[in-house]
Amino acid sequence: MTTTAPRTMTAIVQHGYGGTEVLSIGTAPVPEAGPAEVLARVAAVSPDSGTVHLMKGDPLAVRPVIGLRTPRQPIIGLAFAGVVESVGADVEGFAVGDRVAGTATAAFAEFVVAKPAKLARIPDAVSMTDAASLPVSAGTALQAVRDSARVQSGQSVLVIGAGGGVGSFMTQLAAAAGARVTGMASAGKAEFVRSLGAERVIDYRATPNPADWGRFDVIIEAADGRALHVLRRALNDRGTLVIVGADKSGGPILRGADRQLRAMMLDPWVKHRLTAVMQRENSADLAALLEMIEHGTLRAPIDEVASLDGALALIDRLARQQVSGKAVISLSNLR
Ligand SMILES: NC(=O)c1ccc[n+]([C@@H]2O[C@H](COP(=O)([O-])OP(=O)(O)OC[C@H]3O[C@@H](n4cnc5c(N)ncnc54)[C@H](OP(=O)(O)O)[C@@H]3O)[C@@H](O)[C@H]2O)c1
Repeated sequence: MTTTAPRTMTAIVQHGYGGTEVLSIGTAPVPEAGPAEVLARVAAVSPDSGTVHLMKGDPLAVRPVIGLRTPRQPIIGLAFAGVVESVGADVEGFAVGDRVAGTATAAFAEFVVAKPAKLARIPDAVSMTDAASLPVSAGTALQAVRDSARVQSGQSVLVIGAGGGVGSFMTQLAAAAGARVTGMASAGKAEFVRSLGAERVIDYRATPNPADWGRFDVIIEAADGRALHVLRRALNDRGTLVIVGADKSGGPILRGADRQLRAMMLDPWVKHRLTAVMQRENSADLAALLEMIEHGTLRAPIDEVASLDGALALIDRLARQQVSGKAVISLSNLR
């Protein structure tokens, strides 16, 4: 494999667990791709709540895997867009110079090593920043709306967390499927959520009681952390509840991750359909999402594009849930 890549690169690195004070802009060796991998020069990256979870080392249950006191992988990030710099001998379907988006560990750096199965080619008309916003959040949203909720035209759908990264894509995808979408968000994000296609917005602080929300054919939960039996009160008789996740629920060890498991275990015993999402990153879904952006049937709901200098402040805003939709960091002026 030949490459013109330098030996070292700039990266966003993590020194411990906590807030953005554990992050810095540092230098790291440029990684080497194996025979079945691609080396990409990164144009733009997009943090998401998973980035924030790993920054905090939260929930504690993940620390034996990611590193007990400090992360084993110092470079953060997963979702990126960039240009293929070199391809391994066994790689098919990608060539040097291709514009690609996808997921890979240690993505928030000038160069990243990625597996072809988690990459898709970016259409010419789609920007690097739009493409970088998709692989984690829109990928999860697509699997939640299409595969788990199986949203149909005419259904009433409640998206909890509609102002966030996953929720802003779910709102659009459910509306595009012909559903009547209600988004749940804080009051400050109500107009944004309407702009995504929600007919109605519930401010969860002003209307905390599920008895006041109305009844829905589908509820997709990506923020709230309410108990399953409470959410089910807002479901129609044969309704579907999909648990994507929630950041503020549960204790420090599991942080509510057990709710997904409990939903699936309870499902056979109740008339509602209860299910959960565990994103499976793949080229086909990402290519479908990029095509929707190209054709204008999906919008990349980007709140802010920061330069590397502003990256830590942007991640801090994301951790405080102040971002509407997606945040993107531009790492180079590659187009
Ligand atoms: N299962 C999977 O494979 C998978 C994949 C990706 C993400 N997730 C999980 O999905 C969740 C959302 O991820 P994300 O990346 O979209 O996070 P995000 O961008 O931080 O969005 C979360 C949103 O929830 C809103 N929110 C907070 N409390 C709320 C409440 N009680 N009711 C309604 N909205 C509320 C927040 O803003 P406001 O309070 O201002 O409305 C924020 O906009 C996280 O728990 C994440 O871990 C799971």
